[in-house]
Amino acid sequence: MALFNKKTSKALPENLPEHIAFIMDGNGRWAKKRSMPRKFGHREGAKTFKKITRYCKDIGIKNVTFYAFSTENWRRPKDEVDAIIELFREYIIDVRNYIGEDVRVLFLGDKSIFDDDLQKKMIDLEEDTKDNKQMTMLLAINYGGRDEIVHAASILASKVKDGEINPGDITEDMFGKYLYTADVPDVDLMIRPSGEQRISNFLIWQSAYAEFYFTDVLWPDFTPDELDKALIEYSRRSRRFGGV
Ligand code: FPP
Repeated sequence: MALFNKKTSKALPENLPEHIAFIMDGNGRWAKKRSMPRKFGHREGAKTFKKITRYCKDIGIKNVTFYAFSTENWRRPKDEVDAIIELFREYIIDVRNYIGEDVRVLFLGDKSIFDDDLQKKMIDLEEDTKDNKQMTMLLAINYGGRDEIVHAASILASKVKDGEINPGDITEDMFGKYLYTADVPDVDLMIRPSGEQRISNFLIWQSAYAEFYFTDVLWPDFTPDELDKALIEYSRRSRRFGGV
């Protein structure tokens, strides 16, 4: 316990994860408990996203990914989908105000479904922040893990067809370069609040050896203190990556 969070002076474990992924679950139930519409829960969830991003940066986490919207979430009522996309738009416009200057932003998922204006904002933000070093923040939007793998396979298949590579040359490392996460290291710690214990098609390739942490706390109630609990639990786990 040598590291301290400078803001709170709390002791943190030495072996912090290099990459944390969050499934921001429980917003709908949080709102329902208050007899409010589901979109009210997403608004609170977005505030938590902001707080947790800042906290991760403060304590020196190098990569942090949030599941904002899946390829399956389009099945939700239009009014809820619109509210989430609107929140996303608001938060990416404002992103530098809450993450500071030295953060790289990457979007995971198929951008082509969004209107041109939003696509441009996403591409510009990735371009403008590409050399930032302190932390990489990844936002999964219109993202599905299987979709991502199929997308990578399709690029590689085209390269084989064009004679650029031989099928036998394809390695795990090469395949990984064609995923949306490309040069980002695998997930070390996957956190899912709200009592559900599923991966829900999130980073299924990248979390092959991740540690999972589940808590009953709903995402809008998730705080830096809750994250500390996950980090302490993570630091106690013995990771063997298939070895002994
Ligand atoms: C899952 O909870 C949450 C979502 C599908 C949306 C998450 C979106 C945000 C937090 C806001 C937008 C994102 C950013 C980055 C600003 P749920 O609705 O399934 O909750 P439930 O299981 O309680 O119904």
